[in-house]
Formats: sequence, structure tokens, C-alpha cells
Amino acid sequence: MIVRGAVLREMGLPKPYAESRPLRIEEVELAPPGPGELLVRVRAAGLCHSDLSVIDGSRPRVMPMLLGHEATGEVVASSAAGFSAGDAVAFAFVPACGACGPCAEGRAALCEPGAAANTAGTLLSGVRRLDGVHHHLGVSGFADHAVVSARSAVKIDPALPPEIAALFGCAVMTGVGAVVNTAQLQAGRSAVVFGLGGVGLSALLGAVLVGAHPIVAVDVVPEKLALARSLGATHALQAGPDVVQEIREATSGGADYAFETVGSAKVLEQAYAATRRGGTTVTVGLPHPSQAFSVPAVSLVAEERTVKGSYLGSAVPSRDIPRYIALYQAGRLPVDRLLTTTVGLDDLNDAFDTLAAGTSIRQVLLL
Ligand SMILES: NC(=O)c1ccc[n+]([C@@H]2O[C@H](COP(=O)([O-])OP(=O)(O)OC[C@H]3O[C@@H](n4cnc5c(N)ncnc54)[C@H](O)[C@@H]3O)[C@@H](O)[C@H]2O)c1
Ligand SMILES: [Zn+2]
Ligand SMILES: [Zn+2]
Repeated sequence: MIVRGAVLREMGLPKPYAESRPLRIEEVELAPPGPGELLVRVRAAGLCHSDLSVIDGSRPRVMPMLLGHEATGEVVASSAAGFSAGDAVAFAFVPACGACGPCAEGRAALCEPGAAANTAGTLLSGVRRLDGVHHHLGVSGFADHAVVSARSAVKIDPALPPEIAALFGCAVMTGVGAVVNTAQLQAGRSAVVFGLGGVGLSALLGAVLVGAHPIVAVDVVPEKLALARSLGATHALQAGPDVVQEIREATSGGADYAFETVGSAKVLEQAYAATRRGGTTVTVGLPHPSQAFSVPAVSLVAEERTVKGSYLGSAVPSRDIPRYIALYQAGRLPVDRLLTTTVGLDDLNDAFDTLAAGTSIRQVLLL
């Protein structure tokens, strides 16, 4: 079949994208699903900074690529056990083979064949179903239809509006998972979140959910500070050179846990400096591969500090997405507050300018 979707052919074109138009809306031939795969009518796809990082070249990927990885839709045809036409699904951006070492340990985010397929721009099986175009993280959700591995999909409640359901596949799973799985943050421990985009605000919602206190939120955009307060942050601080000292004051000497959700090694250094002795820094943002960060090595030892990476929220998607959806439906995880606006395929280049400016949270493409 022919699908219409947003294809990136060249990374690093100049801003504004409204003028350079890195995403071209093209018709691409999509082959039918192979064994263990699904054909999905995509309904909605969120715009994540990781899509922007492919566009601007800070997260290099094999070209050309049909972008979009935070998506939801309805199964049209299934060659996989456990899925039938009509099922509502959300996608996880790492397929979990279920058989490799990390999968066997319950660390689906580290699935080895999944990572290899994502690097190659293929589905988990190693094939491409898009003619002449690579898949983005096994999803390629910026198109009206997608063929995915069933191991990239999780069945969800069909009653969920698509523009909400899409968010669970990346922002919510990543941000809430960083708090619940990676940090295992407990009630009464203090937390600071750097960066209040879809991922950082999801981490904030996760910190509120588990009863962390106090909770400090940091961003460069003032409007986001007000939103963070309304979502449960006890302090919201403007980013800048003084912010580490301000966090140390707000948390009586440094936060137990710091979350970096910006994608900057410099901010990661601030996050580390904002933790107390014995504190843990969880790094979620994805800086350019050339960026390094440095900490006084002895502080890891003499102050028993920890730095932990968190990919895909250290999640098991088939376990965590249904849990987070149930919490949303119970009013405990108001992720609808992350939705800024909905857009169409032809608006995508402008929408990525807005994301780059930091003024939106989640813009969601409706298909
Ligand atoms: N680890 C994972 O599995 C995973 C998953 C999804 C996204 N990511 C990464 O997480 C990061 C955040 O993604 P997002 O979609 O929420 O991005 P976003 O662009 O929506 O949010 C980033 C926020 O950081 C703020 N910011 C910029 N500079 C700052 C500074 N110096 N101090 C504090 N805040 C600052 C921006 O104003 C913005 O609000 C990106 O690097 C993305 O690639 C990682
Ligand atoms: Zn993402
Ligand atoms: Zn695996």
C-alpha cells in the first residue's frame, strides 16, 4: 500500500524549519506485515525532542528516515499471536525480543536485537517494510499507516483519546519510568527535575505520584515554571548559573535525586552538583555523542554519589504502559496537562520550530 508520511532525507538543515523544510511529506510504498508484525492505522503521534535531535543532527541516524516514535493507532492486520484487527495499541521505541540477556533480566529497554534494529533503521526482524526509507526506532509514526514488530506494540484501552494515548509510548514511559523504575524514588525524598518538556514534566508527575518532597523544577522558559507549580512542584526555578545554590537552599543542602531531561552535559553537571552527599543523579536527556561530562571522581567515593542512565524509563513497556494508563484514568497521573496542541502532517516543520524554541510541551500530530 501507499502511505503518506514525513520523511527526513538530510540532517542538520538550518533553522527555521518553516523555511528549510527538512521534513517532506511524501508517498512511500509500505509492504504488508511479515511474521510477528502488525499493520497499524496510526491515529496520533507526539513530537518528541528525540525526533528534533535527528532533524538537527545531534542524534545521528541512517538516512532517509520516516520519523515519529511516540505514537498510537489501531491494528488493521496482524501476523502476530496476541494481536487482532481492531486492537488499540501504543508503541514502545525499543522493540523487546524477549529472549536476549537484558530481556531475560527484565531490562527490555536494553534489548540487544532491539538496539541493533533501531541503529540500522529496520524492524526487529532486520527488514524494512518502507520502500527505500528507514524506520525510526521501529515505529515511524509520522504516517497514516505503519508496519511494526508486535514487540514494539502494547495493547491499550481503546477508549483513550489518541492524542493522549500517544504520549504514553515515549514521554510518559520515559519520565515516569525514570522516577519509578530507575530512581525508585520514595515518599519524602527530595527531587529536582531539570528541563520541563514532555519528558521532564512526566518525571515531575511521577515524583508527585510517589510522594517526593520537596520537588524542585528548573527550566529556562518562565511559563513552564508556572505550569510546574500547578502540577505539584514545591519550587520552580529559572535556569542559570545560580540555580544549583538555589536548589541546595530549597532542599536543605541538596536534592536526594536529580533528573536531567534537557539533553545537555552542562546541565548534567549542574544536576550532579545539586544533589546532596549520598544523592543520585538520573540522566535521561540525550546529548550529542561527542559531549562528555566531568565530576570530581573522589566525590563518587567519599560522598557515595551515584549517576544512573535511564533509557525508555528502564521500563518493561507491556507492564508499565497499562499501569500508567490506569493511573491516568484514576486521576493520579494527569498527563493530559502535557498536551499543548494538535497539528497536521503539513504543519510539522513549523511545529518543530516551536519545539526547538522550548515554548510547547507536547504537540501531537493527528492522522
Ligand atoms: N532517555 C530516553 O529514553 C529518552 C526518551 C525521550 C526523550 N529523551 C531525551 O530527553 C530530552 C527531553 O526530551 P523532551 O521531548 O521533553 O524535550 P523538550 O524540548 O520538550 O524539553 C526540554 C526542556 O529543557 C528546557 N531547557 C533547555 N535548556 C535548559 C537548561 N539549561 N536548564 C533547564 N532546562 C532547560 C527547555 O526549555 C525545554 O522545556 C531530550 O534530550 C530527548 O532526546 C530521552
Ligand atoms: Zn521520544
Ligand atoms: Zn531482547
